[in-house]
Amino acid sequence: MCGIVGYIGANDACPFLLAGLQRLEYRGYDSAGIATLRPSDQIRVTRVAGRVADLDAAVKKKSMAGNLGIGHTRWATHGAATAENAHPHSGGNGVLSLAHNGVIENYESLKSVLQSKGYVFHSQTDSEVVAHLIAECLKLSMVKHAGEVSINCYVEAVQDAISQLRGTYGLVIVFRDQADLLIAARCGSPLVVGVGKGEQYVASDTSPLIGFTDRIIYLADHQIAVIRPDNIQVLHRDQGRIRPDIKELTADAVDVTLEGYAHYMLKEIYEQPHSITNALRGRLDKDNATAKFGGLNLTTQQLRSVERIVLTGCGTSWHSALVGEYLFEELARIPVEVEYASELRYRNPPTDRDTVIFGITQSGETADTLAALREMKRKGHHTLAICNVIGSSIAQEADGGIYLHAGPEIGVASTKAFTSQLTVLSMLALYFGRLRHLSYEAGQRIIAQLEMLPEVIQKTLECHEHVKHIAARYADATNFLYLGRKYNFPTALEGALKLKEISYIHAEGYPAAEMKHGPIALVDEHTPSVFIVPNGTVYDKVLSNLQEVKARGGPVIAIVDHEDPQVANLADEVIMIPQIEDFLQPIVASIPLQLLSYEIALLRGCDVDMPRNLAKSVTVE
Ligand code: G6P
Repeated sequence: MCGIVGYIGANDACPFLLAGLQRLEYRGYDSAGIATLRPSDQIRVTRVAGRVADLDAAVKKKSMAGNLGIGHTRWATHGAATAENAHPHSGGNGVLSLAHNGVIENYESLKSVLQSKGYVFHSQTDSEVVAHLIAECLKLSMVKHAGEVSINCYVEAVQDAISQLRGTYGLVIVFRDQADLLIAARCGSPLVVGVGKGEQYVASDTSPLIGFTDRIIYLADHQIAVIRPDNIQVLHRDQGRIRPDIKELTADAVDVTLEGYAHYMLKEIYEQPHSITNALRGRLDKDNATAKFGGLNLTTQQLRSVERIVLTGCGTSWHSALVGEYLFEELARIPVEVEYASELRYRNPPTDRDTVIFGITQSGETADTLAALREMKRKGHHTLAICNVIGSSIAQEADGGIYLHAGPEIGVASTKAFTSQLTVLSMLALYFGRLRHLSYEAGQRIIAQLEMLPEVIQKTLECHEHVKHIAARYADATNFLYLGRKYNFPTALEGALKLKEISYIHAEGYPAAEMKHGPIALVDEHTPSVFIVPNGTVYDKVLSNLQEVKARGGPVIAIVDHEDPQVANLADEVIMIPQIEDFLQPIVASIPLQLLSYEIALLRGCDVDMPRNLAKSVTVE
């Protein structure tokens, strides 16, 4: 979703701002802009509806030089994706310019008050309200400190303004009359300050900072950073000035380049043997036939007394939670409830004392997942994060958790984070199981299967060429069905989501047997059904469902894990994956599904890494 960058220092701000915005493109956006400032000059603003490349071209036609600047990529919420609605927004006739992430809930009432005071609005955004509000507060602060205007007036104005805001914000502000000052403020929308020598940076996540500095400060909610070229002060709403906690930008945030791949999604699909190895690293305890985790922050006694697990998340992470439900119930015999985070946050479910909540999230910033975890924490439950992005809001706020160590995932459609989430959930189920009834031998067997995974995934990737041919045959379809049972029911959901996300083809995932209760009405010779039908306890059942589709003339693409004459006779296309125990099949079966979506999207000319309307990190409700 929206992205922010800011720069102050001895160099020209533009190169960092544009490069930073480019690194933030993966979050999903539809317009972009920058504002820069030179001493004793007006703030110069360039904004475009479109891509950062368009902004770059527009900037080249103007003089945007300045040692101070801010930039923004906007994912439209209030008002269409136009240049007028793009950030930065000016406040008080050019007194200041700001970039805002988040949503201001009381913007309408604030807007009427400001309009009655003569402020003129040029956009439909909630963000412009913040710009004018700060300008108004600055005017009042100047009057109050008449004769001795200092930086404090500006800080006070920001503090006054944000105390009137309801909602979420990450704000970076530049003031026309202060060419060596940037102010950043955070509530519910992440901001990171990059500490340099004689220059400082701000961004909404760490990706723009890589290569510029390795010292960062994560702002927490209700903190304000007063950023000058040679120093940074951090203030907290209630505690006044605080000592900033400077952290090292970790090696996990390293590589954000394509390395010769055509798209990030493809690169990330191919990285899975490696990302799964990283998820497993140091976490299998062969001697005790279990798994081990450093950050759960619960004693084994506490873990033993867990009576119920709630798994929550959004999108692909919610699909991981569904696989987790099967895993925990089968391997650990613990009742599990899976809930969309967006529902959980308002559902107020009765929960027992010994319920543990896992929030599953790649980004660690999804607004609904964060809110659901906060609500559960408030109720006194232990909250745990299964998260990829180190230092993200959810990683920081949860009582404990497990990092995926999948490395940056840039493609909007999640691939490697999904399979890493499933790997971690499998280890967790093993761990909980071994605290209870699961035998030493069963634990050993599970570990052996987990250890095979990276090699098995490497082998699975060999199906790519074959999948590409299949994609060419079905790329024109307008509807797809994805069907599987037990562990592979969520696999079917995830397969359908991948296709929808990047190719814009309508696709539905279903538990195969449920097909008879509605979706089978969609089956005709133009509607392909993708069946996930590897060996296992439900193999015969899925095969019957496959026959039902074939009997109605629907084309079938079947994913199998052995030479299977029955399926071969029925299906139009067969994709072979290596054999693995059923609880790990979603990881393996997802690979051809990811590749199928990728190839179909390419054939349809879609923007694979930045699909329309979608955002990588959904930071609004
Ligand atoms: C967005 C992304 C999805 C992702 C979902 C949850 O919709 O496009 O790929 O699954 O958010 O994100 P999270 O970062 O919490 O896993």
